[in-house]
Amino acid sequence: TEQIPSFYQQFEKDFKIGAAINQRTMRSSEHVIKKHFNSLTAENEMKFESLHPSENEYNFEISDKMVAFAEEHQKAMRGHTLVWHNQTSDWIFEQNGGLVDADTLLKRMKEHIDTVVGRYKGKIYSWDVVNEVIADEEDKFYRDSKWYQVLGASFIEKAFEYAHLKDPDATLLYNDYNESNPAKRDKIYQLVKQLKEKDVPVHGVGMQAHWNIYDPSLDNIRKAIEKYASLGVEVQITEMDVSMFAFDDKRTDLTEPTDEMKALQTERYLKFFDVFKEYKDHIGAITFWGVADDYTWLHDFPVKGRKNWPFLFDKNQQPKQVLQKIL
Ligand code: XIL
Repeated sequence: TEQIPSFYQQFEKDFKIGAAINQRTMRSSEHVIKKHFNSLTAENEMKFESLHPSENEYNFEISDKMVAFAEEHQKAMRGHTLVWHNQTSDWIFEQNGGLVDADTLLKRMKEHIDTVVGRYKGKIYSWDVVNEVIADEEDKFYRDSKWYQVLGASFIEKAFEYAHLKDPDATLLYNDYNESNPAKRDKIYQLVKQLKEKDVPVHGVGMQAHWNIYDPSLDNIRKAIEKYASLGVEVQITEMDVSMFAFDDKRTDLTEPTDEMKALQTERYLKFFDVFKEYKDHIGAITFWGVADDYTWLHDFPVKGRKNWPFLFDKNQQPKQVLQKIL
C-alpha cells in the first residue's frame, strides 16, 4: 500500500487536483479518488445526450449520484458540458422532419441550460459552458457544427449569458483541445477576447491538455497559458492525459509501455508540473481525464482496443514514481 502524501493536499494553496470519473472508476479507483483528488468531473454523465435524451425527458439519476458522492466526500464538482457538437441528442436539431429554425434551437438551448445549471446551482463550482467550437483548420475560425449552421456564432455568448443567470457564482469556461497549438490558441484567444469586450460572462479558458510524451512542446504550453491569462481570466487544465503514443502512431502491438516511453512520460510530467507551479496564480484547477491506467478513454481513442498508460496512477491503482517527485 502506498505511503505517499495526498496529491491534492500538497497543492491545496495553489490549485485543485481533479479527475474525471464514471460509474466504473468510482468503484475501481475509490480509494485513490478519496485520498488524492479534491475536484471531480463526470466523464460523460452530464453531457446533453446523457441528461436530455428526448425533448420532454431528462435523466438525472447518475449525475445526481455523482454530485452526491462529491458532497459526501467533500470534493468540489465541475460541470461538463452544456453546449457541444458531440454527444448531443439529434432531436435538438430536428423540427418537422427537417433542420430546426434558429428561434426554436435557441429556446431549446436555453431550456436545457436553465434546467441543468439551475438543478446544480451552488453544487458545481465551474461549468464547461461551450466546448470545442473553434476549428482546427488554419483557414477557418469556427467549427462547422449544427449549432453554428443554425445560429451562427451567436449561440456562444447566449450560452454563457443563460448559464450565468442561473448560477452567478459558477466559474464559466470556454473549453477546447489542441489548445497549445499556435494557430488554434490564437483563435481561442480571439474568441474569448471578443466575448470579454462584449461583457459576456466568460470567466476562464479550459485547456483540455490531451497531450502525449512528445507533443505539444513546453514552450507552446507556456505561451498558451500566458496568452489566455493575459485576458484576465482563469485558466484550468480540464482533461489532462499524457498518451504514450504520438497522435499519428497507430501501433497496436504493445501490451506494456516500453522503458523508453515510461522515462519520457516521467520527464514530461515533471516538466508539466514545473510549468503549472510557475503559473499557479492563474491556474484554478488541474483535472485529469481519468484516475488510473486501468481505465482511460484512450483505450479506445484514436485506436480502438489499444492499451495506453496516460496517468499518474498505474493500472493497479499505485502511484507512479514520478508522482513522488511532483509532490
Ligand atoms: C470522451 C469520453 O472520455 C469518452 O468516454 C466518450 O466516449 C467520448 O468523450 N473532449 C471532451 C470530452 O470534451 O468530453 C471527451 O470525453 C474527450 C475529448
